[in-house]
Amino acid sequence: MPPIQQALLLKKKFGDLVLDKISIPTPGPGEIRVKILSSSLNPVDWKIQKHGIFLDEFPAILGSDIAGEVDELGPGVKEFDIRDRVFTQGLRSIEFAGFQQYALSRASNVSKIPPNVSFDGASSFPVALTAAYVGLYNRSPHGLEFTPPTSSSARGKYAGTPIVILGGASTVGQYTIQLAKVSGFSPIFTTASLKHTERLSALGATAVLDRNLPSSALAAAIVQRTQAPILTVYDAISTEDTQQTGLTLLAPGGRLAVVQQPTTTCREGRTIVQVIGGLGQPHNIALLSQFYHDVAYQFLEEGWLKPNNVEVLPDGLAGIPDGLRRLELDQVSGVKLVARPQET
Ligand SMILES: NC(=O)c1ccc[n+]([C@@H]2O[C@H](COP(=O)([O-])OP(=O)(O)OC[C@H]3O[C@@H](n4cnc5c(N)ncnc54)[C@H](OP(=O)(O)O)[C@@H]3O)[C@@H](O)[C@H]2O)c1
Repeated sequence: MPPIQQALLLKKKFGDLVLDKISIPTPGPGEIRVKILSSSLNPVDWKIQKHGIFLDEFPAILGSDIAGEVDELGPGVKEFDIRDRVFTQGLRSIEFAGFQQYALSRASNVSKIPPNVSFDGASSFPVALTAAYVGLYNRSPHGLEFTPPTSSSARGKYAGTPIVILGGASTVGQYTIQLAKVSGFSPIFTTASLKHTERLSALGATAVLDRNLPSSALAAAIVQRTQAPILTVYDAISTEDTQQTGLTLLAPGGRLAVVQQPTTTCREGRTIVQVIGGLGQPHNIALLSQFYHDVAYQFLEEGWLKPNNVEVLPDGLAGIPDGLRRLELDQVSGVKLVARPQET
């Protein structure tokens, strides 16, 4: 193995992303090294670069969605073998980030990939699936406090309970729909461009409502399909407009989960929950390690969680800056952009 690799570096706050050569990290106790075969892009990556948020040490590497093969085991790691197919969430620390050819991960944060899922597809999971899972199942004030579907008795538990998922075609939205289905919620309402109806219905949405309808029309469409009060809205987009829509749809006593900063004042008798999906957040650690370590493999293998459709970018890591611009300009619709670092 050559001691150096290609990486996409952010050399300073607000800087450009530039390809460079850096050394390949060595895993410490409890860590593994992953040869990254697919690394997907997230809206937060362009926000960090453009707005100078979250990172203060440079050079830095962005990228939080990693899939690849285990390439080296640190001391004490027993549950993985070299060449195991895995996915994991990258961290905002240079050796643990995704936009490079090799990265480290804590073994406890890694899931194996079943044969029915590709590396590209698996790389679409970590960040968005974490946000969906934390939002639905973490305890208040971090999530909506539903029982996680980690046992067969918990699956299907919320039959007859309606849920509204705003932005179902987003990656977070697609994973929230699928988890809601496993948990039994019904009906599952979602908003999206209607071109996504077939896909989102196949994932579990009972009704796909046009994302451009005003909230009064959305409320009317919901009332036609259920008499039960809407007590849960998961806003997978969380602009000011969608947050307002979510609050409008909620019945008294209802809760709205948002994936960005709350921008509106809560209506009386309703609660807003802000989802922070980071793997390293202390309030997420127990919930997520149980999910990723113990059950995620089964969810993928059984097809309860299907990856978003992907678009593979050209030129490996070099294709990422253009992909991030497209995300920033809202030019990505119903797919996850994926880079293959080994094709750089
Ligand atoms: N808090 C956290 O931990 C966390 C984690 C992950 C992501 N996020 C945030 O969650 C948001 C979604 O991220 P993502 O990666 O899932 O995005 P994404 O996959 O890039 O989402 C793109 C999709 O969103 C749809 N969309 C955009 N605006 C919409 C609206 N007003 N109503 C309905 N659908 C809309 C688009 O629909 P069309 O196809 O109609 O264009 C497009 O299909 C981002 O703001 C991201 O920063 C937060």
